[in-house]
Amino acid sequence: MKQDNIQIQINDAVAGNRAYVHNDPYHLEYHLMPPVGLANDPNGLIYFKGTYHIFFQWNPFGTTHGYKAWGHYTSTNLIDWRLEPAALKPEAWYDKNGCYSGSAIEHDGVLYLFYTGNVKDAQDQRSTYQCLAVSEDGIDFDKKGPVLHLPEGYTPHFRDPKVWKSGNEWLMILGAQNTSLKGEAVLARSENLTDWEFIGPVAGNDMNGLRDFGYMWECPDLFPLSDKDVLIVCPQGLEAAGDDYHNLFQAGYFIGEFDSSNHTFQHGSFAELDKGFDFYAPQTFTDGSGRRILLGWMGMTDDQEQNHPTIRNNWIHALTIPRALEIRNGVLVQQPVTELKKLRGHKKHYSKLELEKDVAFREVIAPMSEMLLTFTRPVEEAFEMDIRNTLNISYVANRLTVERRTFEGTDTEQRTFSLDLLSELQIFVDRSSVEIFVNGGETVVTSRYFPTDDDAVNIRGHMHFDLSVWEIESGRV
Ligand code: FRU
Repeated sequence: MKQDNIQIQINDAVAGNRAYVHNDPYHLEYHLMPPVGLANDPNGLIYFKGTYHIFFQWNPFGTTHGYKAWGHYTSTNLIDWRLEPAALKPEAWYDKNGCYSGSAIEHDGVLYLFYTGNVKDAQDQRSTYQCLAVSEDGIDFDKKGPVLHLPEGYTPHFRDPKVWKSGNEWLMILGAQNTSLKGEAVLARSENLTDWEFIGPVAGNDMNGLRDFGYMWECPDLFPLSDKDVLIVCPQGLEAAGDDYHNLFQAGYFIGEFDSSNHTFQHGSFAELDKGFDFYAPQTFTDGSGRRILLGWMGMTDDQEQNHPTIRNNWIHALTIPRALEIRNGVLVQQPVTELKKLRGHKKHYSKLELEKDVAFREVIAPMSEMLLTFTRPVEEAFEMDIRNTLNISYVANRLTVERRTFEGTDTEQRTFSLDLLSELQIFVDRSSVEIFVNGGETVVTSRYFPTDDDAVNIRGHMHFDLSVWEIESGRV
């Protein structure tokens, strides 16, 4: 392992803060989180030579968005993780202000990372370079420098390369802002992974009937799933509309058909990937079993960030659990990977529970728990579930609402959406996160939460259900 000066500083930051971070009551136990500092997007997800590699945007030196290296975790089972040395650090002229997001592929036994080199000059003017770094062991990376320069017609908000093999060529999809200040996903192609030729937009404003759809698109990912193609992308600048787009930035998808011969993508409408408060910049990859797995950033670059109570212990944000994707009835469905069942410890099961109106069912849960609620008859009138007095899930008049205490703890905020029938809730609780998979993952609601004064769930409503509650057993990541 190479030990340069910056890696030594990173190791010192990790070691010097270990006690603070690990003793934080909101430390996450089975989610990937920064060992110190700030984490944002998952990057370079890949299953390489029998090992899962998950990189992430990482500032090890503070809890704000400044320094951006690629942090690195590895695993052979998606459950036990090991922190590796930072894979990319912003040291070169072409990435000195940040090794921004990107992706990984394997070719001839070599791991290729594609990422955005972010550069700012003395006047704070941005330049962007799409860069390559390679590794044979998946741990030490050699930077090869820029492989694609900013094409004409785009502002320097041009980043987040995701690369894949398409027939005889390699394709790269990037998030971009065109010079009319509209968001687009654009393509480039290569035959050898080092020489890249810009093609043009594949989706964006004024294409496929999209209008006023954001001033910038970040973190695109285009991949086949079932007999369709899916474009995941994060548009910035959408106005809230009805139940949609209530976070500052959005993460969602289009389902359609990608024509690899002429590089076009015909698609349907945009749908949000998650209805919660904290979900952004997801990325997918396929593993040895062919599953398409997604991880997202369980966070958002917004005004609330600096209110996270974990900042006092020098860390902030985390990644979601890995979720396997499928298309069901035209909807992208996310399900926790089955490996997570191995974390199930002590179990309680209640069969055929029948609650009368206004009679609460109370169950003390561990700070790390999985709950599976199966409704054996349609909910009559209302269902309500309160988790540790901090996050509340309710289902009333065909609307599912999640309400949480704000991070300052003074108020509540909510997200809500229509749902014709509620049949199942699978809920993953970690010390400071809740991921709710509704009806087998047809809708997912991801939120951070910071409980203070209660250790139970309370369920109310007139309904019939089965409930399993597992304590999640996990060594610290
Ligand atoms: C998304 C994003 C990316 C960028 C990275 C920088 O959260 O803004 O577009 O590459 O974060 O950390």
